[in-house]
Order: sequence, then C-alpha cells, then structure tokens
Amino acid sequence: MERVLRMMAQAALAMSLLAGCVAKPEERANASPVVEEIILSAPTLKGETSLEETLASRHSVRSFTAEALTLAEIGQLLWAAQGITRDWGGRTAPSAGALYPLEVYVATADGLYHYVPQGHKVRVESTADLRQALWRAGLKQSAIRQAPVVFVITAVYARTEGKYGARAERYVKLEAGHAAQNLLLQAVALGLGGVPIGAFYDDQVQSALSLPTDHAPLYLIPVGHPQE
Ligand SMILES: Cc1cc2nc3c(=O)[nH]c(=O)nc-3n(C[C@H](O)[C@H](O)[C@H](O)COP(=O)(O)O)c2cc1C
Repeated sequence: MERVLRMMAQAALAMSLLAGCVAKPEERANASPVVEEIILSAPTLKGETSLEETLASRHSVRSFTAEALTLAEIGQLLWAAQGITRDWGGRTAPSAGALYPLEVYVATADGLYHYVPQGHKVRVESTADLRQALWRAGLKQSAIRQAPVVFVITAVYARTEGKYGARAERYVKLEAGHAAQNLLLQAVALGLGGVPIGAFYDDQVQSALSLPTDHAPLYLIPVGHPQE
C-alpha cells in the first residue's frame, strides 16, 4: 500500500512538473523548432549520509529494482554531475580553463533529456524510450537495460581544444571522470546505486540518441534502486 501511494505521489509530481514547469523558450515568431524544457527543482544541499560514509559505501551496482527515480532525484544527480555552484558559472566538477566541455543526457522510460546547467533544467530531446537501443550500443550489458535511468556523459572537445590544443583530449576525459564520480557518489547518498560504463560503441550510442555529431559519448551511467 505504502509502495502504491509512493508511486502515485511520484506520478503526480512528474505530472505537475510537466504541466506547470514545461517552458517553450525557443518558441519564436520565426519557424525555428520548439524545444520543450523542464525546470528542475532546486537541488538539496543537505543529506543524511556523510561524505565519508558515502565514499565507504560506493561500489558498482549493476542490478536494479523496477522502481522509477523521481524527477527530483534525477535533477539532483544531474546537479551533482554538472550543476552550477558559483555566481560566475563554476560547477560541482572542476574544468580545465573553466571551459566546461561536458554535456549530460539522461534516458528514461519517458524520453531523452539534455541537462542545461544554466537555470538547472532539461531539454526534452525525445519522448521515446531509448534505453533498449542504448543497451544494444552498450554491448547488451544488463545494467543498461535494467536501470530506470541511464545518464550519458558526452563531450564537446572543441571547447577545450581552442585553448589547450592536443592536451585537450586528456583534460576532457579527466573531467568526465570528475563528473561521473560526483554523480555516482550522489547516487549513493540518495540510497541509489550505479555503475560507470565505458564499454560501448560510440557511433551506436550517438545514433541511438541522435546526438549532435560533436557530442562524443564518454560514459554511460545506469542508476537505480539497488536490488539487494
Ligand atoms: C573507465 C571505466 C570503465 C568501466 N566500464 C565498465 C563497463 O563497461 N561495464 C561494467 O560493468 N563496469 C565498468 N566499469 C566499472 C568497473 O568494472 C568497476 O569500477 C570495478 O570492477 C571496481 O568495482 P567497484 O566500482 O565496485 O569498486 C568501469 C569503470 C571505469 C573506471
């Protein structure tokens, strides 16, 4: 009963967020495409688990229950990965030259969302469930198919190459590691679990999600409620 009530509350939350906070910022007089956005609730800055407890508990989780994540949980995880924490635009994860080459997506049963740190919101890229295609692109690793959400960390190398040239490739990949670890630790702090996945076909992930050609996928991170 409690589980049913929780699911109903989650569904109501998602509906109200979709109904109340879906903005259409790019709806203009000209014929450019309408891009829907969902404003995420402000991230919480207080948790029940200490950083030390979170570090001690982190381990890769590859089996999940069917329970969905709430939009608030998804927003918190996106914030942990790339949220803005400084007036000048500084984020939760460090970035070489503060150039911020990472773009984070999240695939759920309801669609594909692209995180926009400015304004802490997501753009709705698709309303299709793309996790099955992601699973195929990820060598059919079961964690990708089982997880209610799969985060995808991508990088736009050109943003960092402009300043750092050939050194940029190293910097961008290091940054993906920072963002991924933030996300994974935040998952633990929320009572969730996840695994960083590097084994996948880049081109297949790119086409499964119809990513812009300069958004190179670096990590897939399935997250969910751990199956004990
Ligand atoms: C760069 C990188 C790529 C990884 N790729 C995969 C992967 O494709 N599939 C997977 O199940 N785990 C993957 N992992 C997770 C490791 O298998 C895992 O971290 C390792 O076994 C240690 O276990 P722990 O995370 O529980 O401490 C990856 C980890 C890293 C750092």
